[in-house]
Amino acid sequence: MTRTDDPPADGGPPAITVEVCLDQSAWSTHLAEETLAGLRDDPPWIPPVWFYDETGSALFDEITRLEEYYPTAAERQILTEHAAEIAEVTGMETLAELGAGTSEKTALLLDAGEAAGTLVRFAPFDCSEEVLRQAAAQIAGARPSLTVHAVVGDFNEHLGALPMDGVCVLAFLGSTIGNMDPPQRKGFLAEVAATLDADDWFLLGTDLAKSEDELLPAYDDSAGVTARFNLNALSVINSELLADFDLDAFTHRALWDHHESRIEMQLVARTDQTVRVSALEGAEVSLAEGDHIRTEISTKFTPSQVHRELSDAGMLVEHTWFDDRERFMVTLARRA
Ligand code: SAH
Ligand code: TRP
Repeated sequence: MTRTDDPPADGGPPAITVEVCLDQSAWSTHLAEETLAGLRDDPPWIPPVWFYDETGSALFDEITRLEEYYPTAAERQILTEHAAEIAEVTGMETLAELGAGTSEKTALLLDAGEAAGTLVRFAPFDCSEEVLRQAAAQIAGARPSLTVHAVVGDFNEHLGALPMDGVCVLAFLGSTIGNMDPPQRKGFLAEVAATLDADDWFLLGTDLAKSEDELLPAYDDSAGVTARFNLNALSVINSELLADFDLDAFTHRALWDHHESRIEMQLVARTDQTVRVSALEGAEVSLAEGDHIRTEISTKFTPSQVHRELSDAGMLVEHTWFDDRERFMVTLARRA
């Protein structure tokens, strides 16, 4: 289902189009089915989209400002240094951003595209409608000459809804791609390649493998913000799926899986317990003290792995940029 808001008449607030691809009831059904399958798995897991309600999005924003959470600062450094070059190399007319969130770092690309005189359109894409609407309104207000066309959708399903007019740069920042497992990444990258026209570009942010000493604090900060972010997913499930998770009965844990080169976020049961999820056929999940629910993975890449995955998907790497400590990488690719 697609619903498009009418842009306001002349003289009103800035024109924003919000296209809604997520049919609320179909999306709810999809999430409910995934959650039920996850909770019945061994070990149980929950889909990460539950993180990003308004509270969770605000907590994520707080994470990105933590000293310990280096990926945002490292990616921002790269964009600060190279946004003008990205605008020049690509000649971007449309900047589309998947999993845009608040699009905070994206401002650097918007500035560069406007300064180059090519950028006319910004298309933020996210499954979290409220956060997307707020960000889109804020950006449109600050940049009156830009057309803002926001898309509420699932980036595993609705890439076809992106308005990719003219030369388009499709950005996927924040190493959100690391939250997918290898088969999901493969499917997603194939979809991205299929979405790009010959003169379009894919701009990808990936966090790089490094020592556990540096990685773990980024996912288990001393102020406990990441712990609150992780636990918030349970309270979202409580309200959306009528579950009775007791948040005090779980603790946050981040583990480094060296073999898979990824951080795994978990919620560990502090006591033996049975959780009931009324909206999922009254499903019950029994956990013993010390059992865990997996909530997220965050893969850490090597540059050659990113290169290989992009070329396997039919894309050609044109540029890679690193921050000064080589913690993070931004890659610019096009259709092969
Ligand atoms: N790009 C920002 C935010 C990253 S957080 C940054 O770099 O800091 C990940 C974002 O992806 C959230 O805003 C979340 O709502 C969105 N998201 C997660 N899963 C999604 C999905 N399946 N489809 C669309 N957006 C999704
Ligand atoms: N894309 C972010 C990352 O992998 C998401 C994230 C950051 C996250 N901190 C988290 C997800 C804590 C779950 C829990 O770095």
